[in-house]
This record gives sequence, C-alpha cells and structure tokens, in this order.
Amino acid sequence: MTHRALVVRADPSGTRERPHAAALEHVADEAAGDADLLVDVAFSSVNYKDALALAGRPGIISSPPLAAGIDAVGTVASAAGRFSVGDAVVVNGAGIGERTPGGLSERVRVDPASVVRLPEGITPWRAAAIGTAGFTAMLSVLALERHGVVPGSGPVLVTGAAGGVGTIAVALLARLGYDVTASTGRVDEQGGRLRALGARTVVDRAELGGEGKPLQKAVWAGAIDSVGSRTLANVLARTAWGGTVTACGLAQGADLPTTVLPFILRGVTLAGINSVDAPPALREEAWARLAADLDPAVLDDSTATIPLAGALSAAEDVLAGRVAGRLVVDVRA
Ligand SMILES: NC(=O)c1ccc[n+]([C@@H]2O[C@H](COP(=O)([O-])OP(=O)(O)OC[C@H]3O[C@@H](n4cnc5c(N)ncnc54)[C@H](OP(=O)(O)O)[C@@H]3O)[C@@H](O)[C@H]2O)c1
Repeated sequence: MTHRALVVRADPSGTRERPHAAALEHVADEAAGDADLLVDVAFSSVNYKDALALAGRPGIISSPPLAAGIDAVGTVASAAGRFSVGDAVVVNGAGIGERTPGGLSERVRVDPASVVRLPEGITPWRAAAIGTAGFTAMLSVLALERHGVVPGSGPVLVTGAAGGVGTIAVALLARLGYDVTASTGRVDEQGGRLRALGARTVVDRAELGGEGKPLQKAVWAGAIDSVGSRTLANVLARTAWGGTVTACGLAQGADLPTTVLPFILRGVTLAGINSVDAPPALREEAWARLAADLDPAVLDDSTATIPLAGALSAAEDVLAGRVAGRLVVDVRA
C-alpha cells in the first residue's frame, strides 16, 4: 500500500542555502516510520519551520528523505498505549517532520507519549489551525502566568503579531483579559485584524527592531516574543520591574544583543519556550487550556485552507512574510 506525502530529499543540484528539494510523492506505507501509533492524517499546517523544510533550506530535516510537517491531526489507525482505533488526536513537534516522518502525509507513525486526544469542542480542522503555532502561544501564556504576569499586571506585548504564534497569542491574551499591545511590520494591512482579535494597541515593529539602549522607559508587564535579536533586546529593555518575557522564535535573528541590566536592575525574567520537546503533562495542560481559553471561532477568519500540494508554494509565501495568520493543509485534498 502507498500514501501521498510531501517528501524532502537531498537535491543533487542544490546549493548551500537550498541543499534539499520537496515534492508530492506516492510512498510506501513503511515510509510512515516505525513508531508505535499509526495515525491517518486529516490536516496538518505550514509553520515557519515547515516552510523552511519545504523550501529545501538546511537545518530542519537532517536526514532526508523524510516527509515534512511538524503538526498532524487525524484518527488513530492502529491501537497503541492508551489510544484506540478511531480516536481523534493531535501531535505537535516531538520531532515529527524533523527527525521522524511528519504530518504532511496521509499516514504517520508517532510516539504515543507525545500524542494528545483532541479536547471536546475542538474540531480536527481547528486543531490544525491552532497547530504548533497555537500550542506555542499557549505555552507562552502558561509561562507568563507561572511567573505572575496576570491580567491587571499592566500592558503585555506580542511581537511578530500578524504571524501564526503572534495571532493566537493576541487572541488568547485578549480573551483572558490582558491589555494587549501587538507589534507588527504590517500595521496598515493587519492592524484591523489584530484589533478585532483583541489588541488594544498596535505598534510598528520598526520601533523595536533597531539598536537600543540596554535599559529604556519601562512599559510592559510581560511580553511574548517570536522575533528574537534586537527586537527581543529592546523588549527586555522596556519591561517593567518583575516582568517576564517569553522567547520562542528567531524571525529577526538568533542573536540577542543585550546586557544583564534588565535582569539585575529590574528583576526581569526571560523564559524560554520549546514546543518540540514539551513533556506529555504540559502538552495535555496546554491543549486543555486552548479548549477553554481560545474562542473557537477566532481562527476562522485568520486561517486559509490549502491542499497538500499547495503547501509547496505556500512555503515560499511564508518565508517572504506574505502570509498572515495560519495555513491549514487539507492532507486528503
Ligand atoms: N520555540 C518553539 O517551540 C517554536 C514554536 C513555533 C514557532 N517558533 C518560532 O517562532 C517564530 C514565529 O513562528 P510562526 O509560525 O509564528 O511564523 P510566521 O507565521 O512566519 O510569523 C513570523 C512573524 O514574525 C515577524 N517577522 C518576520 N520577519 C521579521 C523581521 N525580520 N523582524 C521582525 N519581525 C519579523 C512577522 O510578523 P509581522 O508581520 O506582524 O511583523 C511574521 O509574521 C519562528 O522563528 C519559529 O521558528 C518556535
């Protein structure tokens, strides 16, 4: 038996910047991997990492050939662990689409420990719309809460706000009652959408993207950053005493040109977020909170649905910053 998958292979005519190439292929079912739980995939999504992998960039898939896709939503096809055939499940990260075959495939085998049963009230399509981006946004909100940043603490900033993580972070924080400031490079195009999601203030990312002093006027009680580099340095420099900034991404760069001053003079905490290796209990907690705290309809206007083959061109759009919100891949289309 075979199934369809977006497979990333080494490209003999590739370059250093693009050593791989991806294509839609019919592959043998054995290519779904050798983990215990077989999932019939209904939906996946295109996250930033998936875009890099599908565009043939290095650093995501170390041992091609491999099906891409760090998210998979579908039904269990063969019972394993605490799961029965037909259970609706979601997997985010856990190495799929990086170290083991991914969810941009009609079938994938996954480690049951990383699998979460779809919570009541979240449809498979919406679970894919949430995807790793929404899971990471929720992990970031949980980190703010654990460090005492609560609604009423003061304004909370979200950087990269028009992107996947940012969009869902804005929606979650606003629904929880936080005073949200959204930073985006697309104020004119995306400002209205971000306000509709609940941002009280929208600022131009250029205000945060340049070189800045190590300590600046304190503004935010907390922040969710998916941008890194100078942006994160400026966010730390503008965080108020005792505030917390979560860091999950590197859209501007992997560097962090800062000093210890925000930490030793304002008691600021920098909390790292890693969705890929999140332990099972944290996965369950995050999905339960997504079911409780994310307005299920909020993503409908911020999400486009594309067929499996469409993910290849969508990847270039994501890397060029032309996509806002989330991209769901209908793996069966
Ligand atoms: N640690 C984890 O577990 C984890 C999980 C998920 C994602 N991530 C990382 O988080 C980041 C965001 O992921 P995503 O899926 O939300 O990606 P995305 O949908 O492509 O959004 C990224 C956003 O970052 C902003 N941006 C892009 N280039 C920028 C630049 N040069 N300077 C400042 N801002 C820039 C843009 O927002 P505006 O248009 O609003 O300016 C863009 O929409 C990526 O680096 C991704 O790898 C990490």
